[in-house]
Amino acid sequence: MPQKKLSSDQIKILTDSFHLCPSSLNVQGWKLVVIENPEFKNWAASAFLDTNPQRVKDASHLLVFCRKTSLFGDHMNRIFATTDIFKKFDAKVKGFIQLFALIGGKKWASNQVYLAFGFILAVCAENETGSLPMEGFNWGRLDKILGLNGFKSVATIAVGFAHEKDSTNPSKLKISRLPLEYVIEIR
Ligand SMILES: Cc1cc2nc3c(=O)[nH]c(=O)nc-3n(C[C@H](O)[C@H](O)[C@H](O)COP(=O)(O)O)c2cc1C
Repeated sequence: MPQKKLSSDQIKILTDSFHLCPSSLNVQGWKLVVIENPEFKNWAASAFLDTNPQRVKDASHLLVFCRKTSLFGDHMNRIFATTDIFKKFDAKVKGFIQLFALIGGKKWASNQVYLAFGFILAVCAENETGSLPMEGFNWGRLDKILGLNGFKSVATIAVGFAHEKDSTNPSKLKISRLPLEYVIEIR
């Protein structure tokens, strides 16, 4: 619903939650870009596919979850210096972790971003904030529009208030999922 905006308190809940998200080895190889400026949001919408552009334009804010392009070197050293668990590790262990950051880089960083992405979806649900997760966009184009440097976009969430007439409004939809036994096995 374009005319209804989330309050700064609602946005702060989301940004504080992102800041506190857990990640493997506390690597925090990510950044959340919060787009609230309507003109900039419309520009960002042009990077989206199918029916997504209108959803971005109508949203209150667009959250863009980004991964760091390199975790190796400066970034990992900063984590070593600021995270308590690393204080007891010697240089050899830190060397192995640096190697892991170098080899696992892109996939490892993306996995952590998706954890934060899911976490924020849950926070939205808990705080009466409408959310539409979206991967349907041109990554390269969005990165260019955002002028990302040292980061790449991974996934997005449009947040705000669903329009009553919107066929995807959660209050109108019956959640459809595969049978529980199909996806859960208790032994
Ligand atoms: C990672 C991810 C990417 C998604 N990308 C899109 C998208 O680009 N466009 C869209 O309309 N919905 C997108 N969705 C929404 C899903 O289609 C939707 O969550 C799913 O159909 C289940 O519906 P429900 O969330 O209403 O229960 C995405 C969901 C996730 C989790």
